[in-house]
Amino acid sequence: MSFEPTIIGFLCNWCSYSGADKTGAARIRYPQTLRAVRVMCSGRVEPWLIVKALKDGADGVLICGCHPGDCHYLSGNCKAAARHALLLRVLKEFGIEKERCRLEWVSATEGERFAAVVTDMTEKIRALGPLVWPERAI
Ligand code: FES
Repeated sequence: MSFEPTIIGFLCNWCSYSGADKTGAARIRYPQTLRAVRVMCSGRVEPWLIVKALKDGADGVLICGCHPGDCHYLSGNCKAAARHALLLRVLKEFGIEKERCRLEWVSATEGERFAAVVTDMTEKIRALGPLVWPERAI
């Protein structure tokens, strides 16, 4: 049996969650690997939440927010982008591949894009295999 990754998806309420909803409403198919967590803004996704998800068994974490300039809290997505860049550097120190922590902008009208992102991330993590949390990490 092939490996099916578990991906935790933090989706901002205003754009990305609606985009995911549109994917379902339009019956666009994508792998059932994503466990969606609705958050008010991508800027609310603190790095420790991502680390906890990976440590507790997720093979990858997807953070989705509004496109730059569209954040309903003005700069939440900019904060998310800055944190994401820093977190990737920390994860790399522990041998965790960048493909396992992905940040994407998905608007409420981009159902097809949402499906494409989840499909691509699933394929990349499938190729990497399950995440083995490094003992020396937090
Ligand atoms: S409200 Fe969507 S990223 Fe801030």
